[in-house]
Amino acid sequence: MVYYPKKHELYKPEDVETVEVETDVLIVGGGFAGCGAAYEAAYWAKAAGLKVTLVEKAAIERSGAVAQGLSAINTYIDLSGRSEIQNNLEDYVRYVTLDMMGVAREDLVADYARHVDGTVHLFEKWGLPIWKTPEGKYVREGQWQIMIHGESYKPIIAEAAKTAIGEGNFYERIMITHLLMDKNDPSRVAGAVGFSVREPKFYVFKAKAVILATGGATLLFRPRSTGEAAGRTWYAIFDTGSGYCMALWAGAELTQMEHRFIPFRFKDGYGPVGAWFLFFKCRAVNCRGEAYIETRAAELEKYKPYGLAAPTPTPLRNHQALLEVREGLGPIYMMTHEAMEALAGGDPKKAKKIYDEAFEDFLDMTVSQALLWACQNIDPQEQPSEAATAEPYIMGSHSGCAGAWVCGPEDLMPEEYKADFPFIYNRMTTVKGLFAIGDVAGANPHKFSSGSFTEGRLAGKAAVKYIVEQKPDTAIDEAKVAELKEKIYAPMVRYEQYKNTSVDDTINPNFFFPWQGLVRLQKLMDEYAGGIATLYTTNEVMLKRALELLQFLKEDLDALAARDLHELQRCWELVHRVWTAECHVRHLMFRQETRWPGYYYRSDYPDLDDENWKVFVVSKYNAEKDEWEFKKVPYKQVVEWSY
Ligand code: FAD
Ligand code: ADX
Repeated sequence: MVYYPKKHELYKPEDVETVEVETDVLIVGGGFAGCGAAYEAAYWAKAAGLKVTLVEKAAIERSGAVAQGLSAINTYIDLSGRSEIQNNLEDYVRYVTLDMMGVAREDLVADYARHVDGTVHLFEKWGLPIWKTPEGKYVREGQWQIMIHGESYKPIIAEAAKTAIGEGNFYERIMITHLLMDKNDPSRVAGAVGFSVREPKFYVFKAKAVILATGGATLLFRPRSTGEAAGRTWYAIFDTGSGYCMALWAGAELTQMEHRFIPFRFKDGYGPVGAWFLFFKCRAVNCRGEAYIETRAAELEKYKPYGLAAPTPTPLRNHQALLEVREGLGPIYMMTHEAMEALAGGDPKKAKKIYDEAFEDFLDMTVSQALLWACQNIDPQEQPSEAATAEPYIMGSHSGCAGAWVCGPEDLMPEEYKADFPFIYNRMTTVKGLFAIGDVAGANPHKFSSGSFTEGRLAGKAAVKYIVEQKPDTAIDEAKVAELKEKIYAPMVRYEQYKNTSVDDTINPNFFFPWQGLVRLQKLMDEYAGGIATLYTTNEVMLKRALELLQFLKEDLDALAARDLHELQRCWELVHRVWTAECHVRHLMFRQETRWPGYYYRSDYPDLDDENWKVFVVSKYNAEKDEWEFKKVPYKQVVEWSY
């Protein structure tokens, strides 16, 4: 990644103002889940006389994975018949569990699903344009998705959240780096610290409950894009694993951190395929024009009963495409022209409408794909487009289920799980007062935008209830805060101290820059932890090597340098990424099977092993001893459905 040095802007910790903010509920991250938490917590906090504060490292109006907008709401059950296809909860839980190859927390999935329709209705009330049929029904993209004109999706939702908590209660351009634990009870959260990325200000948020909503983790692996496009990825590059890292440092249990999402996307621009497959009924073929989902159908038999599910689980759809690529039968093509022609049926007016819709799909959420079409002279009406699997992303809201092991709702959570939690409050982690939502909450995927907002609402309400009922009298340790302030600005101090020991900033024996560390992380993850270099294949020996190299990198993190506040942010993003990567590798090593072919392959355990591994893998980091513990927690069926 090319780094262009800017003017130096160096601060010593002693010259940085400390700003203290006292609150009750602190929400970290103002993406979809964070906005949901803010909206709902504000309502319940008002009645209880409590304060809600939201802190975001960018500008809430355009931050997170929905920054560019979206063209569909991927989770809408429709229990009340407002769309073209009405569904029920049982079918939804079945769909999600099967997409995860049999392992999902059904209590959590059913819980957000039973509330998600109400969230979507609020979005519409706030001004989000949803496509309608002439009869006034929401237009379905697929069985669970509805179409939206969503370029302004994030500003609409951000406005509702900001209005709910009120001016003065949201803080932007502040990166949170560490949680604060209670001085008198280290197993309880008491706030968080971070720094402004615009001015020399260090922030100390004192809180009674903290909700982690910092999204997933991107760019842990070497991306396909290189050189001037490096950093161009599918998911939000600003979601850097902060929530996973801060949760594990705090001693919270994490689950399914071995799971990753490998999106199959229009090549290089990362344009989504969902609308093409479901709405435009597009086919994907290999270089010979063979539709591999038909020619490779027998492969699915191997992964019974999940392989025979309809729709085919997302990893197995990838797996079929990867078999083509492995055999040298790439590129894979999306037959856009064929799909458009079939839908238009020779009617020029219809053809024009479909053409506009095809462009809107990308212009609403992945503008670069439309630009790529333009600059490569691709007319989707005339010719196919290449598609490819991307680098791995760690996330819990999309077709990935990594994240914190959180408490479910009292009425649905299996009894066996209840003992893990100090209190029963929806979406609370195993640390008292610490909640996790959206991409940060594990084992309940397919939330997408609407479900993440909904999960935020559930946690926002529960956090207020926790404060009202448990009355946590949290106190912070001032000495710890002072120590963290020194630590956070250390990369600037280091640069100032050593900047003249070399004529070239990028080659200095005393420090290195975050982009150099990022490249190092991505190379080792790509080569040893199942990145695109090995077509997502790894084994125990490779994973051990990854851990060894990660350990060296972790030791070197103390030598990070920053020349301005922006680069200081990159330093802390790298720290969070490295710890998330380590957690991912340790989880990959623990699960001795290949449960999600198409997401990753363990060459030493190539089969799916339901007898031993139809479980959630749960880890806990002990910071004092610098040790990791792992356990298996059995999957429990909560909702009635059958294969
Ligand atoms: P985000 O919305 O990403 O929010 C995380 C927030 O945390 C960000 O604002 C970030 O800046 C902030 N943050 C991170 N670290 C810190 C820190 N240390 N301190 C302070 N703040 C921090 N869903 C759909 O329903 N339909 C679709 O069509 C669809 N398409 C998608 C297309 C793309 C290209 C992408 C990337 C996602 C798509 N999704 C879609 C999924 C949806 O966007 C996510 O499921 C949802 O945004 C997850 O919500 P979240 O709050 O967990 O994360
Ligand atoms: S998006 O989040 O960027 O829009 P994507 O376009 O892949 O993701 O998928 C959108 C929705 O369609 C998701 O709910 C996804 O699970 C679903 N989907 C994508 N492709 C298929 C397919 N071939 N069959 C069934 N569902 C699909």
